[in-house]
Amino acid sequence: MTIAALARAEIRNLQSYQAAAVADDNVKMHANEAPAATGTGETDGLNRYPAPRPAALISLMAGYYGVAEGNVLVTRGSSEGIDLLMRSFCSAGRDNVLLTPPAFEMYQVYASIQGTRAISVPLQAERDFAVNTDLLLGSCDANTKLIFLCSPNNPVGTVIPRAEIVRILETRTAKSVVVIDEAYVEYSDTESLASLVTQFENLVVLRTLSKALALAGARCGAVIASTEILALLQSVLAPYAMASPVITSAERALTGMQLREALESVNTITAERERLRVELGNCATIERVWPSQANFLFVRFHDLAKVERCLADAGITIRIYAGNSELHNCARITIASATDNDRLLRALRSLD
Ligand SMILES: Cc1ncc(COP(=O)(O)O)c(C=O)c1O
Repeated sequence: MTIAALARAEIRNLQSYQAAAVADDNVKMHANEAPAATGTGETDGLNRYPAPRPAALISLMAGYYGVAEGNVLVTRGSSEGIDLLMRSFCSAGRDNVLLTPPAFEMYQVYASIQGTRAISVPLQAERDFAVNTDLLLGSCDANTKLIFLCSPNNPVGTVIPRAEIVRILETRTAKSVVVIDEAYVEYSDTESLASLVTQFENLVVLRTLSKALALAGARCGAVIASTEILALLQSVLAPYAMASPVITSAERALTGMQLREALESVNTITAERERLRVELGNCATIERVWPSQANFLFVRFHDLAKVERCLADAGITIRIYAGNSELHNCARITIASATDNDRLLRALRSLD
């Protein structure tokens, strides 16, 4: 069986939209575009549809992620990659996906939109939020199409050991697609699993330019997987999905000086993360700070309501996890500039 057999029959049999291939210097009378741009400057060239497959950007991404160009699909943020996977693999009312909460909330949202049940195998709070691999594998059934693993995890910042992921990939070969969301991998001391997509046909790796590459406003990410999986996702993806200005910004972010600057700033942020982790650990208002491999720290306060009032007065917003019993009194704090991190520390110390 090939991995495509796991996809919805409607998607496997889809006659997807084919954009015409046109030489650059041809007179373009095929796409009902305006013959010239109006305005000047940033509107140049915007009278034309973008390339259906942005070849130069794909090539830069392939270089950065260390995979072949054929293993890269560019998407509008990695959020769109999650949505494409749900829509391609999960039949509403029949299939299910496996999630390990706490995790990025959009897995659950896109599963709900697709009418797909989510089986939850929570991370083990008492074991520093480690994945319970035995329980995870035991919870899959014949309709478990996708297993979402967030590593480093959002919101708790932990990394899943490579050996555990390989065990899941091997056990679920030809049964489930295993999606490793590596949105924060640049901030971690572990290697990306992207290069394993040629070894495991059921592996999908999600990457994004929104975090380490400082391009959240552009909405650009990548799905890295076998050509077979990418062909399915591509058929669901809107034609001309990536806007021309986004393609240009993403190409710049992956090139020369701008790329070097972004990677240097990852070092600054991870150093700030470690400084803040120690300093927060010394604040009387904080019960616990978990170690993190991402650009944020996950903490538990003694009295969250008091902290919320204090930070509201200080004009600082953090991400609160209130209603959930496991995450009771917890919050996720994004590492900001040293100045803003100090401002947070001053506000919290005022509660000591
Ligand atoms: C784990 C994780 N995956 C994916 C995303 C989505 O990123 P993008 O901006 O590429 O859609 C986020 C955003 O916060 C995230 O935390």
